[in-house]
Amino acid sequence: MGHTTPAAHPRTPGAVTSPAVHPRTSTGATSPPLPAIIQGGMGVAVSDWRLANAVARTGQLGVVSGTAVDVMCVRRLQDGDPGGHVRRALAAFPVPRIAEQLVATYHLEGGRADGVPYRNIPMFSARPARRLQELAVAAGFVEVFLAKEGHHGPIGINLLRKIEAPIPFVLYGAMLAEVDAVLVGAGNPHELPGLMDDLASGSDIRWSLRVQRATHNDHAIDFSPAALFEGAPPVLPRPRFLAIVASNDLAEGLATSTTARPDGFVVEGPPAGGHNAPPRGPRRLDEREQPIYDTRDEVDLTALAALGLPFWLAGRYGAPTGLQQARAVGAEGVQVGTVFALCEESGMAARLKRDALELVRSGDGDVRTDWRVSPTGFPFKVLSVPGTLSEPEVLASRERICDLGMLRVPYEKEGGELGYRCPAEPVASYTGAKGAREANTYGRVCLCNALLATAGVPQSRGDGSVEPALATLGTDLTPVVALLDALGGERDSYTAAEVVDYLLGR
Ligand SMILES: Cc1cc2nc3c(=O)[nH]c(=O)nc-3n(C[C@H](O)[C@H](O)[C@H](O)COP(=O)(O)O)c2cc1C
Repeated sequence: MGHTTPAAHPRTPGAVTSPAVHPRTSTGATSPPLPAIIQGGMGVAVSDWRLANAVARTGQLGVVSGTAVDVMCVRRLQDGDPGGHVRRALAAFPVPRIAEQLVATYHLEGGRADGVPYRNIPMFSARPARRLQELAVAAGFVEVFLAKEGHHGPIGINLLRKIEAPIPFVLYGAMLAEVDAVLVGAGNPHELPGLMDDLASGSDIRWSLRVQRATHNDHAIDFSPAALFEGAPPVLPRPRFLAIVASNDLAEGLATSTTARPDGFVVEGPPAGGHNAPPRGPRRLDEREQPIYDTRDEVDLTALAALGLPFWLAGRYGAPTGLQQARAVGAEGVQVGTVFALCEESGMAARLKRDALELVRSGDGDVRTDWRVSPTGFPFKVLSVPGTLSEPEVLASRERICDLGMLRVPYEKEGGELGYRCPAEPVASYTGAKGAREANTYGRVCLCNALLATAGVPQSRGDGSVEPALATLGTDLTPVVALLDALGGERDSYTAAEVVDYLLGR
């Protein structure tokens, strides 16, 4: 599967930016030109502020992952906040009361003692505690503030539509730090433009929640910027909104809506790292139990270009030829993840990154699309790395525990009260009182704990056990090898700026 090729659009040879769209912001200013390269959002914290900052310094769009920034923020504080980055950003947070309270609650001078578990934060629900709301806003602010520090390049934040409860809070924090773009995938993001308008004006928010077994559709989370500020909130710049799509239907639905029209699209195909859209046809698996995609999953790029919005292609476009192909079909450029995920500035845990890079470099990198592993139900790319959850024995030896709950979904209990459940939680609790089907639990991995381990902040449980990691990359690993070769073949690492130079054919 891939993208069908439209007639070539004329382009300026060699140009790396296009000033095609300048959405107005609520302050009346215009946004900077569009980038040729978007460094894709990679959760949890693989695209953290360091990576996005390094990419933005080259003039391309650096994107922080907004997933689990609340947990990342408090774990960095508990690790002593080396360099003082989190505390420096919190010192600039516009509500000092919240910043001070976070530092007082979570910061440990010198970090945790050996073997001491991280203190977890409360789980999001339809009625998140005020402290949790404030943490999520502050964490979104911290991540974007640090990504924007020291340069004038553009910074975006990536949010997953499926992880819906934290969205208004993290997004508001990012907007307080004047994020330039918001990129949303993993679901239909049609409410995002309206939400961004409301947050920019400081209005109270009622954010609809999707609830399983719901008997009515007015479940929602309330968020009041005025309550956060204990007074009138500021009017904020309205960032660009880019919808991450995998089908013409979704793109057309958004583009033709008066309320949901984005400022552009990222068109992401099945080879991309992380989660993928499921196939549109019937559920079929190949001999490695990977979902089979076919022509129904191809995006007609001629039709997409006809919508008149800028777009970027993602999923196996992370090479100079990928950028050329994308531009030849009228795209502004490409969104790239895999080759950035293994660069020096990425937030992947150092040892895991080294092991992954070694596997890729030696030609032993094996990426499988797994339809069971993610509790979201979306296919998820898994890189086989010894000692991680890609190995059945590591998976089998992990005791199921749900102590982060980011992928829990609300369901309506008898009587209308909300409960929360995740197919990766302990089977007995999921199938017992929560009444879900055991078949949903097979092969599921607690991505919350796994991806925090991948980001270098694994939970330890005071009994010597440490949560194992799980690495994801896209199926096309060749750009990583090509880049290392281009750098002379002696190097065993590369920087984000070198990725950008490589993609631009410099
Ligand atoms: C490690 C990793 C994590 C990712 N996590 C996310 C994510 O949290 N949200 C998202 O929208 N896309 C995510 N992606 C997809 C990237 O943003 C990007 O679209 C994709 O990697 C492009 O294809 P490529 O892997 O062939 O470069 C992830 C990709 C990787 C490699």
